[in-house]
Amino acid sequence: MNVENPKSLIVIFGATGDLANRKLFPSIYRLYLNGKLSEEFGVVGVARRPNSNEQFRENVREALLEAKLDDSKIDQFCEHFYYHPFDVTNRESYLELKLLLENLDSTYHTFGNRIFYLAMAPEFFGTIASKLKSEGLTDTTGWKRLMIEKPFGRDLPSAKELNKQIRDAFSEDEIYRIDHYLGKEMVQNIEVIRFANALFEPLWNNRYISNIQVTSSETLGVGERASYYEKSGALRDMVQNHMIQMVALLAMEPPSRLNTEEVRSEKVKVLRSLRAISLDEVDQYFVRGQYGSGIVADKEVMGYRDENGTEPESNTETFVAGKLLIDNFRWAGVPFYIRTGKRMAVKSTKIVIEFKDMPMNLYFPEGEERRPNVLVIHIQPEEGITLHINAKKSGPTGETTPIKMEFSSKSQNSINTPEAYERLIYDCLRGDATNFAHWDEVGLSWKFIDTISEAWATNKASDFPNYKSGSLGPEKADKLLEKDGFYWWPLSE
Ligand code: BG6
Repeated sequence: MNVENPKSLIVIFGATGDLANRKLFPSIYRLYLNGKLSEEFGVVGVARRPNSNEQFRENVREALLEAKLDDSKIDQFCEHFYYHPFDVTNRESYLELKLLLENLDSTYHTFGNRIFYLAMAPEFFGTIASKLKSEGLTDTTGWKRLMIEKPFGRDLPSAKELNKQIRDAFSEDEIYRIDHYLGKEMVQNIEVIRFANALFEPLWNNRYISNIQVTSSETLGVGERASYYEKSGALRDMVQNHMIQMVALLAMEPPSRLNTEEVRSEKVKVLRSLRAISLDEVDQYFVRGQYGSGIVADKEVMGYRDENGTEPESNTETFVAGKLLIDNFRWAGVPFYIRTGKRMAVKSTKIVIEFKDMPMNLYFPEGEERRPNVLVIHIQPEEGITLHINAKKSGPTGETTPIKMEFSSKSQNSINTPEAYERLIYDCLRGDATNFAHWDEVGLSWKFIDTISEAWATNKASDFPNYKSGSLGPEKADKLLEKDGFYWWPLSE
């Protein structure tokens, strides 16, 4: 089989949903345009609505036009799409789907290779996985893989339960748990920046780094997702997965090989070294916030509690800042600060690595503001790195000035980097699970998060809403760093 353009059927559960329309169809189309998909492929959309193939293809076409992609191959692409109306619990639905897949296998010569993509409400994940097995859909001559969206549970016990259900039907190496941050260009670049540069790796430890900051701020509010978000909040929605994954990549040891097992096992070791926080310590290490009304991009926006579908007294956090400590030889004593929130001043995901001061710095006399060396990894919307260093100001006075060395990945590559979902679907087609979350990572991460959510569920926030839309979150988040003698590096730099 050609591993560059593997042949497979892709079955998308939840094919009429937002994720399928906004992300999955455009990503599969891009793979097609870029020659990364064999001409012989088929996509089966599965959902409750009674659609026909023609209606479904029309929906896919609209989604692609909406995504403003080169439309020259849309017609031939859409021919590969099929629709299967479906009832999650009905045995017949699965048997009919099985028949359809067998027919498509012979139409497209896909050797029985199948990706089952669960892009729908999580309460059905377990049932679908079990039924795929019991009705014989996983019993195929080719390979079978399960791509599964978050949320993967809402705490450790529910995640374990879900894992048990899907593991009955798929083995760990057939399960691709999506964390779309792992598909981002600059998140993938973290490992290369660290491990392919003699300039950084020797300094990447507690002797030279004073603290690391990971921020992912959004300007959008909760939008149409209140029913999900009310039960999730920023801690489960962003911290348990995306933020902790970025911390693991920043902190892990160099893998001995660039393969799935080695990379994941180094990440798991970081998560095992995360210092657990006890219930009564949560307030010292974590800050929560909820947005009130305010102004974002010159527009007045309402507070979280006024959004459609939220509770008037909602205790749900839309902002989290926290301090993580990693108790191992490399990182003992170095705080990793994380921060994420909705309705903040800017849309920005950035990692800041702040280096320690020189032991004696004659160029910054006592009392004068120090300017630490800082490496910024810009994840989005800009992609690149900036190194902040000190240099001499030109002229006779001998004064110093901060300078920046910058690399912007967009301007270098001149084309847009692939979308996260495009890479992840391609990885799954090729059987590369490196950029997906292993169960051990998911489990350890929930274990860490559960104490914080328990503390917050027990002690309701008395000060919500505590930050204005369009700000950088509650003041308490600044205090978290100030008490350690640090401050959040500006997001504009
Ligand atoms: C998702 C969350 O996982 O990530 C959303 O469920 C959030 O609430 C989104 O908006 C942020 O992703 P990105 O790629 O825009 O940073």
